[in-house]
Amino acid sequence: MLNAALRTVILSAADNRQVRRVVSRHGMRLGGSRFVAGETMDDSVRALRELNAKGLYANTTLLGEAVRDEAEARAVADEYIVLVDRLASEGLRANVALKLTHLGLELGEELAYENLRRIVDRGSFIRIDMEQSPFVDATLRLYRRLRDDGVDNVGTVLQAYLYRTEQDLAALLPLQPNLRLVKGAYLEPPAVAYPKKADVDTAYVRLLETMLRAGGYTAIATHDETIIDHAIRFADEHSVPHDTFEFQMLYGVRPQLQLDLAARGYKVLVATPYGPEWYPYLMRRLGERPANALFLLRNLARR
Ligand code: FDA
Repeated sequence: MLNAALRTVILSAADNRQVRRVVSRHGMRLGGSRFVAGETMDDSVRALRELNAKGLYANTTLLGEAVRDEAEARAVADEYIVLVDRLASEGLRANVALKLTHLGLELGEELAYENLRRIVDRGSFIRIDMEQSPFVDATLRLYRRLRDDGVDNVGTVLQAYLYRTEQDLAALLPLQPNLRLVKGAYLEPPAVAYPKKADVDTAYVRLLETMLRAGGYTAIATHDETIIDHAIRFADEHSVPHDTFEFQMLYGVRPQLQLDLAARGYKVLVATPYGPEWYPYLMRRLGERPANALFLLRNLARR
């Protein structure tokens, strides 16, 4: 209850101009680098290499969300093309996850599709992240359009907090999709998403069981140990092949759990973002766990 209230305060404060100015200037040095690989592609590649050396898989994301114009959206896609080619040429066990608003979705669905298609056509696996609820329809439409065009090296994300997700999942299952299941990171109104964490957790488990049984590929993206243990037990009891699912966690969150699961033989992928526009991403991570915000504030007070 207290955590939910703090989360709302932190996510609302994230939009305050003064908070944004202070955190943007000092946040990386004061603790943000725990969650973000750095500001450049070289920083990202270095972090991915280190994760691979520890037996972990990784994905990377150029941080950033809405773009101002078509040229900016195309420039983002150009950087992603350089990135996917670099991951392939360096032989990294890493793929890319991206946001459609960063590729221009708010300027036009066709623009976002063109940019996405240019990246996907390089041949590497690309995951389309899920953003706020007004973007869910368009995101699922573009995912389906790629699959209808015969593009298979692509996956997307479903959020357990949305009431609609059960139906979205049912509609996607005939495609044998590659889906990442998350609880959901944005502040959504009770009209579209479960306000209570317990309901989100229950929905997560229900969706997860459906996915694991359905025969597509499931990325179990959570740090919730109860759910992770349940997933392992459920997969064993229902003979779900181990090459049809993986665990995913965020860079800097529960690193020991990541290593423990990998040591037990499970595939673990660490989502490792980079880029100069790290502010909204960092604020979402702080909102998920008020202790992270306190950690950053303490560092700020020590200066
Ligand atoms: P929960 O919030 O219940 O946390 C369980 C435990 O994990 C906590 O008790 C704590 O120990 C630890 N923990 C969780 N978050 C932490 C943090 N920030 N710092 C420290 N400890 C933390 N969302 C979305 O809407 N669209 C998306 O595309 C994605 N993509 C995505 C990819 C990957 C790989 C992950 C892991 C997550 C996402 N998310 C996301 C975010 C997701 O929706 C959710 O907000 C976070 O994963 C936190 O929820 P948990 O499932 O970890 O559970």
